[in-house]
Amino acid sequence: MERLWFSLLLLAAACRGQPCPKRCMCQSLSPSLAILCSKTGLLFVPTAIDRRTVELRLQENFITAVRRKDFANMTSLLHLTLSRNTISQILPSAFSDLRRLRALHLDSNRLTVIKDDHFKGLTNLRHLILANNQLHSISPHAFDDFLSTLEDLDLSYNNLAQVPWDTVGRLTNVNTLNMDHNLIENVPQGVFTNLHKLARLDMTSNKLKKIPPDPLFLRIPVYAKSKGSPLSSLVLSFGGNPLHCNCELLWLRRLTREDDLETCASPPDLSAKYFWTIPEEEFICDPPVLTRKSPHTVALEGQPASLKCKANGDPEPEVHWISPEGRLISNGSRTLVFPNGSLEINVTALKDSGNFTCIATNAAGESTGRVELVVTAMPHLANSTSRSRDPSSEPFLLNWHGTPIQFQWVETAMPGIIPFDTVKIATVEF
Ligand SMILES: *[C@@H]1O[C@H](CO)[C@@H](O)[C@H](O)[C@H]1NC(C)=O
Ligand SMILES: *[C@@H]1O[C@H](CO)[C@@H](O)[C@H](O)[C@H]1NC(C)=O
Ligand SMILES: *[C@@H]1O[C@H](CO)[C@@H](O)[C@H](O)[C@H]1NC(C)=O
Ligand SMILES: *[C@@H]1O[C@H](CO)[C@@H](O)[C@H](O)[C@H]1NC(C)=O
Ligand SMILES: *[C@@H]1O[C@H](CO)[C@@H](O)[C@H](O)[C@H]1NC(C)=O
Ligand SMILES: *[C@@H]1O[C@H](CO)[C@@H](O)[C@H](O)[C@H]1NC(C)=O
Repeated sequence: MERLWFSLLLLAAACRGQPCPKRCMCQSLSPSLAILCSKTGLLFVPTAIDRRTVELRLQENFITAVRRKDFANMTSLLHLTLSRNTISQILPSAFSDLRRLRALHLDSNRLTVIKDDHFKGLTNLRHLILANNQLHSISPHAFDDFLSTLEDLDLSYNNLAQVPWDTVGRLTNVNTLNMDHNLIENVPQGVFTNLHKLARLDMTSNKLKKIPPDPLFLRIPVYAKSKGSPLSSLVLSFGGNPLHCNCELLWLRRLTREDDLETCASPPDLSAKYFWTIPEEEFICDPPVLTRKSPHTVALEGQPASLKCKANGDPEPEVHWISPEGRLISNGSRTLVFPNGSLEINVTALKDSGNFTCIATNAAGESTGRVELVVTAMPHLANSTSRSRDPSSEPFLLNWHGTPIQFQWVETAMPGIIPFDTVKIATVEF
C-alpha cells in the first residue's frame, strides 16, 4: 500500500515535467511540491530538482559545498533543510534566488565563517539555524538582507568569541536568539535596546564575566509580574558563565529571580555560590588604588619616553593620562596609551616637559597620580658661527674611498650624554 502511494506521488511529480531525483520522495500536494531526500547518501545537491519546489529537505547526507547553481531559479522555495551534512563551503550568492525562503536550516555542518555574500538575496528569511558548526567569525553585513524579517537566529554550539553585535542589535523582529555554548566574553551595553519582540535569549555556557544592564532584562518574568509590566516576558538563560559577582552585577541580582542555578566564578569568597542566593550587599566593588607609578622621568629630546601607572581595584581600573596642559591623551602620531596604564611617547619634544596626571577609574571610584617628565635639549651640531676659534684645533683630512674629506673641530655641549660640559667633535661640511 505504502509502495503504491509512493509510486503515485512519484508519478504526480513526473507529470509536472521534472522527474523526482533518485532515491528522493517527491510529494506533490498541489499546488506545492515538496522534495525529501534525507539519508540518501547525496554528495551534492541533486541537479534534477523541480525549480518550483516549495520545500526541500536534504538533511543527513554528505554534501560538502553549496554552489551557485544548486538552488538557482528556485523562487518558490519556502523551506530548505541542509542539516547534518558536511558543508564547509558556501559559494557566493548560493542562495541569492531564494527570495521567498522563510527557513534555512544549516545546523550540524562544518561551517567556520559566514561572509557578507553568503546569504545575499534571502529577503524574506524568518528562521536561520546555524547551530552546531565550527563558526568563529560572522561578517558584519552577512545578515543585511533579512535584518527586519528574521524571527529566530540560532548560533548555539559554535566557536564564536566575537559576535557582530551591531548586526544583532538591528534584528528588530527577532523573537529567539540562541547564542549558548560559544566563547563569547563580552556583551556590549545597550545592544538589545531595539529588540522589542525578543522573548528568549540564551547565553548559557559562554565566557561572560559580566552582563551589562539593559531595559530588556526588566521583562524577566518574576520582576515583570511584580511590576505588572505590559510587555511580554523574557526568558533569559546565562548559567554556565564565569560570572564575576561584584557591584556591576548588582542590577541583575536585584531582579529577584530565584529559580535558576547560575553560580559565581569570582571573586574568591563568592566562587561557586549560587547567584540568586548571595545577599545584595556582598556584590562589592573596590575603588582603584595606585600601586606603582613611574618616578620623575628624564628623557633626551627626540628619544622615547615611557610613563607608567599601575592601579588595582575591582573591577579592573582603566587608566587615562592627562597632559601637562590638561588635555586627555589618546593614541596619536607620537603617543600610545595602553590598557595596562603605560603611556609611550615615541619621540619626545622639549614642550612635553611637565607634570602628567594619570587617572585610574572604575565603577567604585577613581585615584590619580602625578608623573613629572623632563625633556632635555638635544645638542645641535654646530653652525659655522659657533665653530671653535682654538688655533690648536686645525682642520684635518681623512681619506674616504680615495676622496679626501676635510674635518673641522667644533665645541659643543652634550648634557646627559657625556659627563663634561663641552666636548669637541669633528664635523664635515659638504
Ligand atoms: C535559471 O533560469 C535561467 C533563465 O531562465 C536559465 O538560463 C538557467 O538555465 C536556469 N538555471 C537553472 C539551474 O535552472
Ligand atoms: C613614531 O610614530 C610615528 C607616527 O606614528 C611612526 O611613523 C614612527 O614609526 C614611530 N616611531 C617609533 C620609533 O616607534
Ligand atoms: C592604543 O594603541 C595600542 C596599540 O595599538 C592599543 O593596545 C591600545 O588599546 C590603544 N589605546 C586606546 C585608548 O585606544
Ligand atoms: C604595557 O603594555 C605595553 C604594550 O603591550 C608594554 O610595552 C609595556 O611594557 C606594558 N607596561 C607594563 C607596566 O606592563
Ligand atoms: C611638577 O610638580 C611638582 C610638585 O608640585 C613641582 O615642584 C614641579 O615644579 C612641577 N613641574 C612642572 C614642570 O610644572
Ligand atoms: C644656526 O645658525 C642659525 C643662523 O645663524 C641660527 O638661526 C640657528 O639657531 C643656529 N642653530 C643652532 C642649533 O645653533
